[in-house]
Amino acid sequence: MQCCLNEEGEFAVSMFNVELKKVVDSSYDIELGYELYDKLVEDIKNGLVGKIGKFAVVTDDIVEPLYARPIAEKMTEAGYFVKTFVFPNGEKSKVRATKEYIEDAMLESGFRRDCCIIAVGGGVVTDLAGFTAGTFGRGVPFINYATTLLAAADASVGGKTAVDTPLATNLIGLFNQPKKVYIDINAWKTLPERQLRSGMAETIKHACMADREFFVFLNENMEKIYSFDKAACEHVAECNCRIKYSVVMKDELESGLREILNLGHTVGRAIETVSDYKLLHGEAVAIGLAAQAHLSRKLGYMSDDDVSAVESLLAKAQLSAKIPEYIDREELVKKLYTDKKVRNGKLRFVIQKGIGSVVCFGENVYATPVDEQTAREIISEM
Ligand SMILES: NC(=O)c1ccc[n+]([C@@H]2O[C@H](COP(=O)([O-])OP(=O)(O)OC[C@H]3O[C@@H](n4cnc5c(N)ncnc54)[C@H](O)[C@@H]3O)[C@@H](O)[C@H]2O)c1
Repeated sequence: MQCCLNEEGEFAVSMFNVELKKVVDSSYDIELGYELYDKLVEDIKNGLVGKIGKFAVVTDDIVEPLYARPIAEKMTEAGYFVKTFVFPNGEKSKVRATKEYIEDAMLESGFRRDCCIIAVGGGVVTDLAGFTAGTFGRGVPFINYATTLLAAADASVGGKTAVDTPLATNLIGLFNQPKKVYIDINAWKTLPERQLRSGMAETIKHACMADREFFVFLNENMEKIYSFDKAACEHVAECNCRIKYSVVMKDELESGLREILNLGHTVGRAIETVSDYKLLHGEAVAIGLAAQAHLSRKLGYMSDDDVSAVESLLAKAQLSAKIPEYIDREELVKKLYTDKKVRNGKLRFVIQKGIGSVVCFGENVYATPVDEQTAREIISEM
């Protein structure tokens, strides 16, 4: 850039345009199957992440011996440099301090820009590892190996990565797409029942917002799914995947349509934080789904029967639709304002329409303002 005097004796400042138009292809595959460790190694050998030879396996302390270790061992056997970075399991680890810990540990172990992160675990691991990958060395590739139903249903697909803050969940993060997602249906068998139910809440969300037939299927097959019937579980995995990726493909950065994936999350995320994470993500979402159904009925988009159908499916999945007694209702109302859909200080909700659809409020608008008193009334019904 040049600075010089012009004819009037004033400084004329030159201007340059740094042209950086980008055409980016962030497409990737999602593979559903059983014990996909060998497939992962084979894909890497076949160039999934180019010529990278260094891999940081990021996982939590429960998943490490179950799934991360076999993956790390197979990768090492295949001749790659592999180190595993483990943090304590649970939502309370999904914070900046854990990200810093992983980053420093990776740096100390000699990892630089020429590495790839493999996230092995549930949504906490994939959110945290994906965010870490987005900033480590200004960005390195990452792969998700999802081991929970919740991560399979939702968290591992779509490229939203984040950490929680004391104010609310997922406030700091990046859109960062993985190179591939592996969904290991076999891993659901070692999940504690409570975690399986938590994943079922996001599954029911998908059915409520996009697929009436899937809703009926869940109603008729809940026992089979909970007893790991192969065909039923595969159907769940496939429907979840199809519903999630078809939304993400149309609106990767949540400029409109993607907001529908937030069904039940306005109240859900707020309860999750106010409960100080005593409620699991899916447990909080289940209550949020019931709350938005009540709101939808109030606004005239769902009948009494529709609302009962949602509540009875949640009950079938052994998910409570009631806000626990220990949650301070007024604190919950205040917490609703930390939701990312809030615009100009107004609460906004995604609203279910009947079973298997959501309300579109205008071109590419899928959330509607709801006044605080209405939100308070709904919460007091729950
Ligand atoms: N990025 C997104 O689009 C998105 C979408 C939905 C949810 N999320 C996030 O996902 C997180 C919740 O995901 P989650 O429920 O998978 O959480 P999680 O990763 O904490 O896993 C739940 C628990 O199950 C354990 N576990 C994982 N796999 C196991 C297995 N196969 N067998 C036994 N135990 C196992 C974990 O150690 C943990 O204790 C939340 O942080 C939420 O915000 C993100």
